[in-house]
Amino acid sequence: MPTALTDDPSGAIPIVAVTPEDFAAWRQKQPPATAAWLDSTAFTAEPGRTALVPGPDGHFAQVVQGVKPDDAIWSLARLPKTLPEGRYRLDFDPETLFGPGAASQLALGWALGAYAFSRYKRPKRGFARLVWPAAADRATVEHLADAIMLARDLINTPAEAMGPAELAIAVEAVGARYGAKVTQIVGDALLAENYPMIHAVGRGSARAPRLIDLVWGDPDAPKLTLIGKGVCFDSGGYDLKPPASMKMMKKDMGGAATVLGLAQAIMAAGLKVRLRLLIPAVENFVSSTAFRPLDIFKTRNGKTVEIGNTDAEGRLVLCDALAEAVGEAPALLVDVATLTGAARVALGPDLPALFCNDDPTAAALLAAGAAEADPLWRMPLWQPYRKYLDSKIADLNNISDNGFAGAVTAALYLQEFVAPGIPWIHIDTYAWNPTTRPGRPSGGEALALRALFRLVRDRFG
Ligand code: BES
Ligand code: MN
Ligand code: ZN
Repeated sequence: MPTALTDDPSGAIPIVAVTPEDFAAWRQKQPPATAAWLDSTAFTAEPGRTALVPGPDGHFAQVVQGVKPDDAIWSLARLPKTLPEGRYRLDFDPETLFGPGAASQLALGWALGAYAFSRYKRPKRGFARLVWPAAADRATVEHLADAIMLARDLINTPAEAMGPAELAIAVEAVGARYGAKVTQIVGDALLAENYPMIHAVGRGSARAPRLIDLVWGDPDAPKLTLIGKGVCFDSGGYDLKPPASMKMMKKDMGGAATVLGLAQAIMAAGLKVRLRLLIPAVENFVSSTAFRPLDIFKTRNGKTVEIGNTDAEGRLVLCDALAEAVGEAPALLVDVATLTGAARVALGPDLPALFCNDDPTAAALLAAGAAEADPLWRMPLWQPYRKYLDSKIADLNNISDNGFAGAVTAALYLQEFVAPGIPWIHIDTYAWNPTTRPGRPSGGEALALRALFRLVRDRFG
């Protein structure tokens, strides 16, 4: 429950949102003292600017916020950490200004605007609270805010405190709240149970690799399976990352954090699915037990893979999880992964790359993302590049050795483990905000979570 939203309207200070286009007309209707204050502070409702306006007694009495009409979710999201602590209420109709759904969007933006990663250091100040806007879909706002903040916390937590075992504990904690069944296959049991790639990637770490498996819901409901890359730290293995790239790699479980948050929201909302969440959780490390360049392994589905580079480990742990998932022919299969630097070169930090083997599903997810201001960009499963993954002595190489289309070849590698008839979404995400913007502090981010939640809710109710 996002505590930045409140039921208690007592003494709440009104917030008015105004666009630059509407400002002159709106200003005309204000009391002379208010107009004078705005004029003397050169306030023109520029989007992002806030005026704190005094009342007749000189006390703070009103917030006037400049906004863009196409940006409901983030338009008030700076306020929780900039307004004086206390209570505030909307003094305008969100749906008239921003369009349908805006009350929920504003509430969610406010909740996310109050987020701080506080595990190691107390935030400098508390936050301002917003009285729930009347038209908000409170349940959905709460589910999404909690899901996104959970994912951010997991990503922001350093690898020292968020190894494979701790990630499993996080899944168990979520599962226990909704009566889900959570099991794990740990360490050498991965070999006995035929998850050779999860074992191979994770065996170099003293913290045992595992496959975390959560199952929830009516066994007869449509099957939705979510897979998240859970590389708790990616050193690159023997094909070691340079320091600047390695530094960020506590976030290499960002896919797992995103799908765990999504799973929590789906269970909290009671959507009519049989949900399965699969998280291969490993550390990609260097040691005398680590896997090596040019090792060859037989994967779960029988295809052999030659290790062209130990740093292309995400697709290896995912391929065993995908092979397991397709065995029960889910109605929809989704994987989310911080898979390639190439996706970031192509699309930057804010746009996850979407790969999908089913055009209607891709279109529905892009539309859901647009509606939620949680955009993705589709990239092709371009079959002619499949040959880049050919190996002379195995069925596949895990890398292409030309530098072309790295996000595409990673997706094509994964597709080798997905049966053609199963609608499959692969999201290559950055899972991180490199800068601080309203509602999105620098650090871990659950990109695509809101888009996916909307798709799943629309499709399965
Ligand atoms: N986790 C990285 C990808 C990554 C890097 C995501 C930086 C976000 C930010 C992944 O395991 C990786 O190392 N990929 C390699 C693949 C290459 C060796 C074919 C990459 O993208 O460089
Ligand atoms: Mn890697
Ligand atoms: Zn990685």
